[in-house]
Amino acid sequence: MSRLIVISNRVSRPNGAANQGGLAVALAQALRESRGIWVGWSGGTTDNFTGHIGFADDDGVKTATIDLEEQDVDEYYNGYANKTLWPLFHYRIDLAEYARDFEGGYNRVNQRFADTASPLIEPEDIIWVQDYHMIPLGQMLRDRGHQNRMGFFLHIPWPPTRLLVSLPHHTKLVSTLFAYDVIGFHTEEWLESFRHYVEREMGGTVDGDFVTVGGRTIQAVACPIGINAEEFKQAAASDAAVEMHRQVRASLQDRSLIVGVDRLDYSKGLEERFNGYARFLKDHAEHHRRVVLAQIAPPSRGEVESYQQIRATLDSLAGRINGEYSDVDWTPIRYVNQGYPRDKLAGIYRSARIGLVTPLRDGMNLVAKEYVAAQNPDDPGVLILSRFAGAAMQLKDALLINPYSPEEMSDAIDRALAMPLDERKRRWRAMMDSVEQQDISWWRSAFTDRLAATRQEEPEAEPEPATE
Ligand code: G6P
Repeated sequence: MSRLIVISNRVSRPNGAANQGGLAVALAQALRESRGIWVGWSGGTTDNFTGHIGFADDDGVKTATIDLEEQDVDEYYNGYANKTLWPLFHYRIDLAEYARDFEGGYNRVNQRFADTASPLIEPEDIIWVQDYHMIPLGQMLRDRGHQNRMGFFLHIPWPPTRLLVSLPHHTKLVSTLFAYDVIGFHTEEWLESFRHYVEREMGGTVDGDFVTVGGRTIQAVACPIGINAEEFKQAAASDAAVEMHRQVRASLQDRSLIVGVDRLDYSKGLEERFNGYARFLKDHAEHHRRVVLAQIAPPSRGEVESYQQIRATLDSLAGRINGEYSDVDWTPIRYVNQGYPRDKLAGIYRSARIGLVTPLRDGMNLVAKEYVAAQNPDDPGVLILSRFAGAAMQLKDALLINPYSPEEMSDAIDRALAMPLDERKRRWRAMMDSVEQQDISWWRSAFTDRLAATRQEEPEAEPEPATE
């Protein structure tokens, strides 16, 4: 097995954060098996960038991280990654900010990552670059002479061409993707948008999985990320989950729980979700006092203004809805700005009659899959899922809704609450089959096998030493 080198902005150590995501688990497993290295940002800053690499070894996973300067973080992470690419790729050009400093900082930091990773790379290694923070990195590694097999995986949607062309120097950025051998997206929809862009804006051609621009052919594939279903089922049966489940149920006093769990991000459609729930309360007085929406939303990217705004909007909206409908012994929304470890989350999911996962646009959405995996097979809850989440392509037995429509959301909640056990079981089984079959190991192998199978280019012959 070739050694894997993963390069991504965040490096998640296996024993680190209590609520580490499925992606971290999957990559950590692959890194451990191949004795690979995970390269990324430490999350810390330094006055002057030195290129010093901090190595650590946690449970068999070797990590190599660097500190960045404040200006790097401002221009690269807060700037180009989260004020420019994130909103644009989530179809929010109204929120996207285009500034030359951001683009400059993004390129500078990617060069820094290339300098950091370069000495660690050996010719047989397979390199996996992860997500929108690092699009040009592969090209920068090629510029440093690395001819390894290299893949890039995008975790977020790929936007339609008509939106992407609003980005200054868009073709320059996209052309760097052709340095990779394989690029992956979660769904056919994002892949289609990518191909469309390449054909329309770059004069490229598409032949099945192969995409060619200017004589360079790479593979572009759709490969949906899954969760570690087995581990999540076990988490749902753990002591911490059972205790959480007991605590939540006791606090509900026989009321039905609707749960949402999302990073506090405008792409998650939280404002629309609260409005949809308010519509449900307005339309269905018979359910007053019978339901509670628990929205868990740990704050995220707090230095970016659009995130400060969405937080303020949700604070006031939750307050307004609760003010309008609460009684002395019933609060319709529990709005919680903290994260929970995975086992406790599993217990919360299992307590909920409805999982309300309604992003306006989402590359995949693993919460939807985790909600399914945590259910009691004998009495499963109902997943209400946005059509615009990548997960909707696989979880077709959820109640699929348009998250922009408060009426659709209200109807779906009403329908889910009334859904007979037989139908709940049938829908859950079909979704669980998909979650179990296309799990995290399936996803990782599908991508790395494809990458491993690409022909490794012959290293260029060293020039003959000059003889007098
Ligand atoms: C999304 C992105 C990831 C990112 C995560 C958390 O899932 O695709 O690359 O790590 O959000 O965001 P943060 O800015 O906190 O890393």
